[in-house]
Formats: sequence, C-alpha cells, structure tokens
Amino acid sequence: MISGYPVRIAGTGRYIPEKVMTNFDFEKILDTSDEWIVTRTGIRKRHFAAEDEKCSDLAYKAGLAALEDAGIAASELDLIIVATDTPDTVCPCTASKVQGMLGAANAGTYDVLAGCTGSLTAMTTAIGGIASGIWKNVLVIGSEDFAGVLDWTDRSSCILFGDGAGAAVLSRSEEGKGHFIAAELKADGAKHALITIDKEEGREDPVLRMHGAEVFKFVNVHLPPFIKNFCEESGVEPSEIGFWVLHQANTRIIDSLFKRLGVPTERTLMNLENYGNTSAASLMVTLDEAMESGCIKSGEKVLFMAFGAGMTLGAMLYEA
Ligand code: UT7
Repeated sequence: MISGYPVRIAGTGRYIPEKVMTNFDFEKILDTSDEWIVTRTGIRKRHFAAEDEKCSDLAYKAGLAALEDAGIAASELDLIIVATDTPDTVCPCTASKVQGMLGAANAGTYDVLAGCTGSLTAMTTAIGGIASGIWKNVLVIGSEDFAGVLDWTDRSSCILFGDGAGAAVLSRSEEGKGHFIAAELKADGAKHALITIDKEEGREDPVLRMHGAEVFKFVNVHLPPFIKNFCEESGVEPSEIGFWVLHQANTRIIDSLFKRLGVPTERTLMNLENYGNTSAASLMVTLDEAMESGCIKSGEKVLFMAFGAGMTLGAMLYEA
C-alpha cells in the first residue's frame, strides 16, 4: 500500500501519428486477411509515425497535451520519464530530448525500458518519488515508434503493433482529490526470450520477434491470479472496481481476464481496433481517452494493468 503524500493524476494527453495502415493494406503485402486479424486480435487499423517523426517527437506532443490538461507550466516539472521500447537512441535517453523540446528546465530525466509494462512501471516509480517528497510534479510518457523494428514479412508480428504516445502529469494531491492506493510489479525473467528487439544475423537493424502463442499462454495463465491477488492485497474486490485501464494487446486476453474475474466488459475502454498494440504507449493513450470521454468518475476505484516483454506484469489501484 502507498503511504506518504497522496499522488493524483493531474492531467493527461496523447498524440497519434496521421499515417494509417488498415488490415486491408496488410492483405496487399502479406498472406493474411482482415477476418483473421479481427477475430484473432481485435485490431482493424494502426497508425505509424512519418519518416521524419521519431519517438521523441510523438512523446513531446503527448507530453505537451498532458501539461495543458493539467494546467501547469513545463518549468514546474521535477522529472520527465519516457517509457519506450523504441527510443530515438540508446543514449542519450529520449526523456532528455523531450525535456529540451518542452523547455522543462527544472526537470530530471530518464527512460524506462520494460516492454508494454513500461509506462505502468514509470508511473509506479513516479508515484513512489512524489509520495516520499522527492518530487511534486512528474510527467510520465509512453511513446513508441515501431516502424523501424518490425519485420514486414512476418505476419505473426507486424500486424499487431502500431505507433503513438500517451502522457500523464502525476502530482502531489490534496485532501478529497484523487490518490493512488497500491502498485505492484512482477517479472518472470526466465521467459525473457519470448519477446525481443535485438540484432539478428543478416540484418542491419534490430528487429522485433515474438513467440505469440507462448506469450498468449503465459499471459492467460499468470495474469488472472496476479490481478486477483493484487486486489486481495489492496483490500478491494474486482467487482468494486468502477473502471479498468488496460494494456491493449489482444481483445481475447481482456475478455478472458474479465470472465475469470467476473467483471462486465462495459467497465473498460478498448481502443485496440484503432491503434493496434502501441506497447508502452497503450496504457497512457487508453487513460487519456477514458479521461476525455468521462469514463472515470470522481471517487471511483480504477485498476491499471499491463504486461509485456520481460516477461513483465504490473498493476496499480487508484481512487479518482
Ligand atoms: O503486448 C505484448 C504482449 N503480446 C501479446 O500479448 C501477444 C499475445 N499473443 C497473441 O495475441 C496471439 O498469440 C497472436 C494474435 C499473436 C496469434 O494468435 P494465435 O491464435 O495464438 O495464433 P498462432 O500463433 O497459434 O497461429 C495460428 C495460425 C498459424 O497457422 P498454422 O500453423 O495453424 O497453419 C499461423 O501461421 O495462424 C497463422 N497466422 C496467421 N494467419 C493469417 C499467424 N499470423 C497470421 C496472420 N494472418 N497475420
């Protein structure tokens, strides 16, 4: 359970690049079909960054939108964390580039690399730092620019991913406003080879590889008990959670999770069909869309969940 200063979500934002690639576009370049992709994943289209758009560009635009929503100046930020699997460069961190673009002169920076669990991991560390009094305002951004790491001949992976960025300003809260209650991170590092972005013989650039069916099995076995246990330790029943902000990887995974927990599917917002899996950006984009459309009501309990490469799992409980 989180103690110390209460921490709230002060503002959110997102940026989705313009270029769209539909399942029908993939039918033209691969042995696949719209029908297969929709029924096996729930995805209908995804967006990709333009040639001259990098992870930092997407992150900057989402970050700016979150600052505007929070009504705070960039100079009031103490820290910027960018969660990404596709940074502009290995060094320096993408967060530093974003800090420079925003003119956030008083903010420290670092990147988090934890697969699709990256932005939840970044939020957890931001909450810890604000609760303990180190920082007051932290900008957490999840941003992905996948186009360069996908193998466009591998139908089992390239149809799944998409680009985008989402952001949230987390701030020290006041009595009666929102606050985070609990957070937990887990990993099964022995399974690290299930999803990789790495160099390969015969290729110049690192490439994304995923053992999809094994990942699917891993998630379906480990995610429901992880969430059940997290709720139990946080003193809340899954049925008491008013809204679920979930990593968007596959509608079948979420349907099966909700079925096992006895939660009605109306308690979440799915946007997979529009964006595909945007990895570290997915949770933040979903949060922003949920805030914008009024899905999250004041006083309601909100559960955040993500899983991904590593194999990592994470959950957070918030009271809005
Ligand atoms: O966010 C990070 C975590 N990642 C995930 O959560 C991904 C988890 N995994 C999945 O979502 C699913 O495993 C996939 C959507 C990736 C694949 O679905 P699946 O039902 O597990 O399919 P599969 O890999 O077992 O493949 C079934 C068949 C195979 O053909 P055969 O061997 O049965 O003839 C594949 O070759 O489907 C074939 N296939 C495709 N067919 C048409 C694989 N990809 C495609 C495709 N179009 N794009």
